[in-house]
Amino acid sequence: MTRDEIKQADGEYIAHTYGRFDAVLVKGKNATAIDQDGRRLIDFTSGIGVNSLGWGDEQWAGAVAKQALAMAHTSNLYYTEPCVRLAKLLHEGTGCKKVFFANSGAEANEGAIKAARKYSREHHGPGRHQIITLVNSFHGRTVTTLSATGQDAFHQTFGPFTEGFAYVPAGDMGALLQAVTPHTCAIMVELVQGEGGVIPLKEKYIRTIESLCDQKDILLIVDEVQTGVGRTGSLYCYQQYGIQPDIVTSAKGLGGGLPIGAVMLFGRAGETFGPGDHGSTFGGNPVAAAGACVVLERMDRDMLEEIRRKGNWVRSSLEGTPGVENITGRGMMQGIALSEGLSAKELAAKCLEKGLMILTAKDKLRMLPPLTITDEELEEGVCILKQVLAAAAPTKTNKGETNNETPLQTA
Ligand SMILES: Cc1ncc(COP(=O)(O)O)c(C=O)c1O
Repeated sequence: MTRDEIKQADGEYIAHTYGRFDAVLVKGKNATAIDQDGRRLIDFTSGIGVNSLGWGDEQWAGAVAKQALAMAHTSNLYYTEPCVRLAKLLHEGTGCKKVFFANSGAEANEGAIKAARKYSREHHGPGRHQIITLVNSFHGRTVTTLSATGQDAFHQTFGPFTEGFAYVPAGDMGALLQAVTPHTCAIMVELVQGEGGVIPLKEKYIRTIESLCDQKDILLIVDEVQTGVGRTGSLYCYQQYGIQPDIVTSAKGLGGGLPIGAVMLFGRAGETFGPGDHGSTFGGNPVAAAGACVVLERMDRDMLEEIRRKGNWVRSSLEGTPGVENITGRGMMQGIALSEGLSAKELAAKCLEKGLMILTAKDKLRMLPPLTITDEELEEGVCILKQVLAAAAPTKTNKGETNNETPLQTA
């Protein structure tokens, strides 16, 4: 099919739930994609934080292809090695006691919510089912995870929503203390609010929440769907915060390109799920699990250090650039706040025209490149971004306008 035929058929046959960028993608290598017209595009999106090892990673694709040939699927009524290997790798990387496999971030969060409510019922009796989440959070698109999401915009159309959620502004400990009642069973947070605009929470705030949870036997659920699996420079972001959550959810980057989600249960919550409590036809699928094993095996100390180094370089390279107000985030998850009058959506479209795929989050530009992006790819992408910013905000200083003044240093 030609590019135009594909776009036309997309419009005709696919439900229009997404506003698509104007590119038909075909293939790629590492952080360089190729579109239908053969155009090279530097990829600062990795799906939306999914292709951790980039496009066409041979080790990942080899493991997936081998597993697909041997056994693409069987039910969870049987044992399979990829699923067990993956659970063990997650245990070794985090210390989680048990893991439940799902297929997406929303499903992982559904599992976490069920686990928290079950734990509370078992230890404190019925009626203690309220979960506190943060204003501006995002936890998924199922009816319950929309309810968990602390944004009014998501609470308009699809009611009645699941009851039992309360929302407090991030960082406001007073509001949180007021919201906790004898019915509270869990507090659920993203450590860096991703869809909400790449906003990291303060460490002190999170540590105070952790001790509150310990005191009251409330479970701390950390949604690491976007921040997990190396994205922020540690295997999971909570490890940088020096806290021990009771439940951590993971998805996106875990599969490296195939759908998989995980609910990791720690400490007191470790044995919450028993036979019949939860299930999923595809959860723990051997092909997705085989790919995820490769992703986790590659997240070693060197890889994580590289992610932090590249993240720091991006920040220092973009700071002071005309059109950039500030940069927030960690590692390979960065949000770029723009000067007044600049539209993130328009800039992202312009970047694509110039050969760079980049995301938005609220009114910011958002970078979630493959974790394996090379220095050259990163420099090329930042250079395009600076050119686009310079054209959109030409009146300010020219510092670092089109070239990176400080080349990336390899460690
Ligand atoms: C923090 C967070 N939680 C949950 C989700 C939902 O994940 P999925 O789209 O895989 O259901 C997302 C997706 O953007 C997310 O960023």
